Amino acid sequence: MSDWDLLLTNASIATLGADTPGYGEISDGALAIAGGRIAWVGPQADLPSGDAAMTRSVSGRWLTPALIDCHTHLVFAGERSGEFEQRLSGASYEEIAKAGGGILSTVRATRDASPDELFDAALPRVQALIAEGVATVEIKSGYGLDVDNELKMLEVARRLGDSSGVSVFTTLLAAHAIPPEFGGRADDYVDLICDKLLPEVASRRLADAVDAYCESIAFGAPQIAKLFRKSNELGLAVKLHADQLSDGGGAELASHFGALSADHLEYTSASGVEAMAKAGAVAVLLPGAFLTLGETQRPPVAALRSNAVPIAVASDCNPGTSPMCSLRTAMMLASRLFGLTPLECLAGTTREAARALGLADDRGTLEIGKRADIAIWNISHPRELSYWLGTPQLAELLLADTITGGQTTRP
Ligand code: NIG
Ligand code: FE
Repeated sequence: MSDWDLLLTNASIATLGADTPGYGEISDGALAIAGGRIAWVGPQADLPSGDAAMTRSVSGRWLTPALIDCHTHLVFAGERSGEFEQRLSGASYEEIAKAGGGILSTVRATRDASPDELFDAALPRVQALIAEGVATVEIKSGYGLDVDNELKMLEVARRLGDSSGVSVFTTLLAAHAIPPEFGGRADDYVDLICDKLLPEVASRRLADAVDAYCESIAFGAPQIAKLFRKSNELGLAVKLHADQLSDGGGAELASHFGALSADHLEYTSASGVEAMAKAGAVAVLLPGAFLTLGETQRPPVAALRSNAVPIAVASDCNPGTSPMCSLRTAMMLASRLFGLTPLECLAGTTREAARALGLADDRGTLEIGKRADIAIWNISHPRELSYWLGTPQLAELLLADTITGGQTTRP
């Protein structure tokens, strides 16, 4: 029996360790893996004695934690390019939604699709993320809006994880829009979610968290408070689409319920940022939606920094506001559009994205004990990961489960 299953040598390493300054750079480094976890990492000259079942030189390449996309809606049917054209001619996202388009248009297509059709449409999206170094993906429901179709979406999301090899974490977003059959009766729909859907999802362990869309065209604070209370009772973590189109007090609401994250945040106020800081909620910034909607109001990055709110970056892959299956693109856009540094973008798609999923102790940095999901890159510095657009630089994505034959423990 060897001490290590795999030993990587001759590596440049960016650990992204929380207590290390900057990228946590190690030159001439080595990293040892045992049982799907990092057993040792540091300068090769300091490598303790031990034997490895396999030793591989990575020839000076950079290792980073595998990337984590902590906010996606990548299970859906159909597309909404017609709405994109309408918006280019001046229609707003809210106007299109109020006319029965927007999210409800994807709901119609998704309800009509079989599980296999949804799976076949979504798999290439997951594969596109994997091809750029992503090993953990959050996937939301929210285009079913009734019990059967929300369950169908969550089951498809789970199947995507089983067949693609990456970790999928699922989120119930039944409170995404008011379904047409509940027109004018949003409270009744929230009751259906709380009384029927949530208990079933919790007992079947089909979702890792619960999300909602807090906006005038979606749900208000009292409705979301009811949903979050019930989620907390059932032991499900919560997160929120907050202050995307207007300041609806979403950041405060999410913080009040101990949310893992509040996402979007373009219109979040100073008091919203302070509430997030107190609650330890992660700010998940979504530049794909900002760009696609032609938004001009930027999220309050300076206030997030000065209040030490952790910042994550995600693709928000969805057919309405962020038709983008690329986390690397989101990183570049977050630097250019929001002024995040390349280091913030990489931390935001590794360490802080893990935190946004409640996985801070499990993955997202290259530190002893962390899950050995590792990206190996053909780059000369990790800042390049937030600089290139559409350029393949992944040499290899090493998955803990590949090393352990699927036996890596999951939180
Ligand atoms: O993250 N804002 C609400 N939800 C999605 C958009 C969903 C859609 O338009 O289909 C978002 O932007
Ligand atoms: Fe979203």
